[in-house]
Amino acid sequence: MSAILDAVQEIAGDVRAWRRHLHSHPELSYQEHETTAFVEARLREFGIETQRPTPTGVVGIIDGAGPGRTVALRADIDALPIQEENDVPYRSTRDGVMHACGHDAHTAMLLGAARVLAQHRSRWRGRIKLLFQPAEELPPGGAVQFIEAGVLDGVDAIAGLHVMSNVPVGKAAIRPGTVMAHADKFTIEIEGKGGHGAAPHQACDPVVVASQLVLNLQTIVSRRVNPVQPAVVTVGAIESGTTFNVIPGWARLLGTTRCFDDQVRELLRRELERIAQHTCAMAGATCRVEYEYGYPALVNDPGVAQVLRDAAAAVLGPENVLDQEPILGGEDFAHYTRRVPGAFLFLGVGNEEIGAAYPHHHPRFNLDESALASGVKILVKTALDLL
Ligand code: NI
Repeated sequence: MSAILDAVQEIAGDVRAWRRHLHSHPELSYQEHETTAFVEARLREFGIETQRPTPTGVVGIIDGAGPGRTVALRADIDALPIQEENDVPYRSTRDGVMHACGHDAHTAMLLGAARVLAQHRSRWRGRIKLLFQPAEELPPGGAVQFIEAGVLDGVDAIAGLHVMSNVPVGKAAIRPGTVMAHADKFTIEIEGKGGHGAAPHQACDPVVVASQLVLNLQTIVSRRVNPVQPAVVTVGAIESGTTFNVIPGWARLLGTTRCFDDQVRELLRRELERIAQHTCAMAGATCRVEYEYGYPALVNDPGVAQVLRDAAAAVLGPENVLDQEPILGGEDFAHYTRRVPGAFLFLGVGNEEIGAAYPHHHPRFNLDESALASGVKILVKTALDLL
C-alpha cells in the first residue's frame, strides 16, 4: 500500500494541472462535452477502458490481477452559472460559468486515483469503476441517469468525496448514517383577479394571498412536524405585479424544503399542498402546487464510512478526521447510497491565508490545492481497502 500511496506524490503536479485546466474550462450541467472528452483522453492514456453511459460523463473500468469485488469511486464534473471574480491565472475563460463548488478538484483527484490504481493493477484483485458523473448541480442530479444506464451493475460498494471550504486544509470530516438532507423544490402559482389599486373590493389580490401563504407555510415546521425532526420550509422567491397602483392577476412562490426523514418529506409535501389550497380558497383565489423531488437524504453506510474514515486518518493523521455534523444541504451522491453501500467524505480545502475561505457557490470560491494529493491518496486507499 505505501508504495502505491508514494506514487500519488509523484503525480501531484499533474493533478493540480488537470484541476487548473478544468477550472479554466468550466461547463454547465449536461453540457460537459469538453470535460468528458478531456477525462476520457486521460483515462485512455493511462490504459483504462472507458464507457459513455450518457451523452456527457464517462466511466473508467480497471480490472486488477484477478477476480474479486467491484468498487466504484465517483466524481461530479459540472460547473455553475456564476461569473468568477477570482483573479488567478487559471480563472474561468467562460463568461458566466465557473467551477464554484470544487467539482474541478473532484474530477482531477479521481483522475489521479485512476492513474495510480491502473499503474499498480497487478497488485490488487477485483474491479474498480471510476464514475465521472455529469450534472450534480441540477436536481435530481445526473446520478439518476447514470444509475439508469447501469453504472452500479455489479458494484459492491461506492465512495466519494466533496471538498469543503469551511473545513481547514489538512482535515477531513465524515459521519456514519444520515449526513445530508432530502432537498426538494416547490412552486405555487396563485391565480387571483387583477384590478385597479384603488378598488380592491372588485379584485382578488394575489399579493395579499401570497403574503398570508408565506406565513401559513411557517406553521408546517412549527406545528405539524414532530419537533425532534429537523425540517426547513423556505420561500426563496415571490414574483408578482408590475407597478404601484395595479392589483396583479397572479403571484408565484418558489421555495425549497429540507429534512432527513422519508416520512417527514411526505408530510412536508402534503401540508404544502393543503395549506396552499386552503389559504387560496379562503380569499377566493385558486392555486397550482408543483412539488419536485430533488436529492434524497444522503445516508452513509457505517461500514463504508469507517473504511473512508480510516483512509483519511492514515493520510491526514487520526486527529485531523472530524465528526461531521448533519447538514441540510443536498447532494446527488445520495442516489448511489440508496442502492449500494456507500459513503461520502468532506475534504478540508479552506485556507484563509490564500483567500480560500469563501463559501461554495460564491464568485470567489477557491481551494487550497495542497489538499489534492491527500484527496487522491484517500480515494486510492479507500478503493483498495473496500476491495
Ligand atoms: Ni458540489
